[in-house]
Amino acid sequence: MRSMEIRPDASGCGAEILRVDLTDLSEADFARIRGAYIEHGVIFFRDQNLTPEQHIAFAKRWGPIDINKFFTATPAHPEIAEVRKEKEQTVNIGGGWHTDHSYDQVPAMGSILVARILPEKGGDTLFANMYLAYDTLTDDLKRQIRGLRAVHSNRHVFGATDGGYNSVEGGPSFRNSDLVGDAVHPVVLTHPESGRKALYVNPAFTTHIEGRTPEESNPLLFALYAHAMSKERVCRFVWQLGSIAFWDNRCTWHFALNDYQGQQRLMHRITIAGRPLH
Ligand code: SIN
Repeated sequence: MRSMEIRPDASGCGAEILRVDLTDLSEADFARIRGAYIEHGVIFFRDQNLTPEQHIAFAKRWGPIDINKFFTATPAHPEIAEVRKEKEQTVNIGGGWHTDHSYDQVPAMGSILVARILPEKGGDTLFANMYLAYDTLTDDLKRQIRGLRAVHSNRHVFGATDGGYNSVEGGPSFRNSDLVGDAVHPVVLTHPESGRKALYVNPAFTTHIEGRTPEESNPLLFALYAHAMSKERVCRFVWQLGSIAFWDNRCTWHFALNDYQGQQRLMHRITIAGRPLH
């Protein structure tokens, strides 16, 4: 096999990594993949066909696994969360811009998503780069958000009975559970590995700016969201069986498109624990 190639997407968000076997990675290739992940925010692989055990082994090379409190795990592997939509369901998981686990005190580092069952067409995933979103803000918006912190919550999502980004018909509600809760994070974080600044608010989980009401917060948050989801900084991943997307939750958003009604889609997700944000 010729040597591994890293091919960045024209949007500036994401890179595809070609000619690599994730079950047989040298330390040198692993270091290059890590570099691409930190630089591009999301990396894509094709034709990997990982077993669940190989998926877990690859994830553990990056850090401890963060087991999702809300998703159903695969029966044999509690480390693997199912992102599932059945033919008869109309709502999907992740069908809005978000970053995983921003409602946790220590949000997750990243998520490794493996395609298991795909619709004939549709079900692509969009990604947006939050380094670029921050870098391209106007000086005025940068000044307005300097030093601010924002509250993130999962109560309206996993504690709800009537909708939300992850609400799937028949899915459980955690309304009275102590699993639902809030966390406060800087609006602009300094990425612990790249040292770059990234915008760290998202439409699904950020509820308001600390010290302001949601109504007072919304004009600023909506201006940031509109900027962050600009088409020129978004990439689209078209899944095939054997495809993998591995994103960095600290510097990207993602959005699972729900355009395949009447068909099944099943993905396996492993989430890797992060470190406190600054
Ligand atoms: C997710 O939001 O983690 C799932 C993304 C997808 O299914 O494409």
